Amino acid sequence: MKTIVITGGTDGIGAGLARHYLAQGDTVVAIGRDAAKGAALTRLGAHFIGADLSLVAENQRVVDLLASRFEAIDALILCARYFRSHRHETPEGFEACFALEYLSRFLLSHQLLDRLESAPAPVVLNVSGPGAPKPEIRWEDPGFRRGYSGMEAQFHAGRANDLLGLSFAAEHPDARTRYVLVNPGSVASNFAGEFDPDTAAIVQRMKRTATPVDRIVPHLAALVDAPPAAPVSAFVIDRRVDPRMSGADDRAAVRLHRLTTRLLRP
Ligand SMILES: NC(=O)c1ccc[n+]([C@@H]2O[C@H](COP(=O)([O-])OP(=O)(O)OC[C@H]3O[C@@H](n4cnc5c(N)ncnc54)[C@H](OP(=O)(O)O)[C@@H]3O)[C@@H](O)[C@H]2O)c1
Repeated sequence: MKTIVITGGTDGIGAGLARHYLAQGDTVVAIGRDAAKGAALTRLGAHFIGADLSLVAENQRVVDLLASRFEAIDALILCARYFRSHRHETPEGFEACFALEYLSRFLLSHQLLDRLESAPAPVVLNVSGPGAPKPEIRWEDPGFRRGYSGMEAQFHAGRANDLLGLSFAAEHPDARTRYVLVNPGSVASNFAGEFDPDTAAIVQRMKRTATPVDRIVPHLAALVDAPPAAPVSAFVIDRRVDPRMSGADDRAAVRLHRLTTRLLRP
């Protein structure tokens, strides 16, 4: 029996994966904000941790809770996301999309490594957007103080996650934990967020035409159950792609790791 921790495990793709692993008899920890969604999952046998992962302090609390409850974590699946058409800053002063969709994943990936390494075949599945063209990191303004757009903030976080995969492998060269980046394609999930009318219309259209969650889950579960041997790998659904956009990505990954460490310094 495995222990599977899923951020954004209360809805959309994360909840689909939670139901999949519960049906297999695994221990599932779903993390999200919504207590009612959490209660629905606990009725199926999951553990629920209510947390706002856009806050660094909450990520720290989640790490401590997980470390106190579980000796080993077989899989960390990163799915939490929230779209905002208008820029929002967290009480800690970070732009909310960057905080939730990148900083949280950075913190959980690195800080849960010792629990992952205690499992026989550990994996981090970062569900984001590899294999798609994305903008370069905004080195001087990662929090979009200038020129915010909800879509660009999403793509920027996706780019940061690609680089997180590379720097995670570089930072922990002896780790057995495999880092797998996966782009699930267009999936009819909940698409949680606060949308302006134009974006809301796009989202409604996407929800009608996108792949149902339950059809995408087996592809993602296959990556968790049998990750490639490479320390970092990337997929668009089940098609393997290069985790790098260019030969300069390894240097960019080191640079982003340093920048992130600086940003997170109290
Ligand atoms: N759906 C797609 O077409 C698509 C395409 C490419 C990539 N992806 C990636 O797939 C992953 C899953 O996306 P999805 O479409 O399944 O998302 P979704 O249906 O919108 O669900 C988002 C999840 O994130 C949680 N969440 C939101 N804000 C949170 C916060 N501040 N703290 C903690 N949890 C929070 C929500 O939980 P609560 O409601 O309980 O807060 C929910 O469980 C994301 O990483 C996304 O970037 C999706």
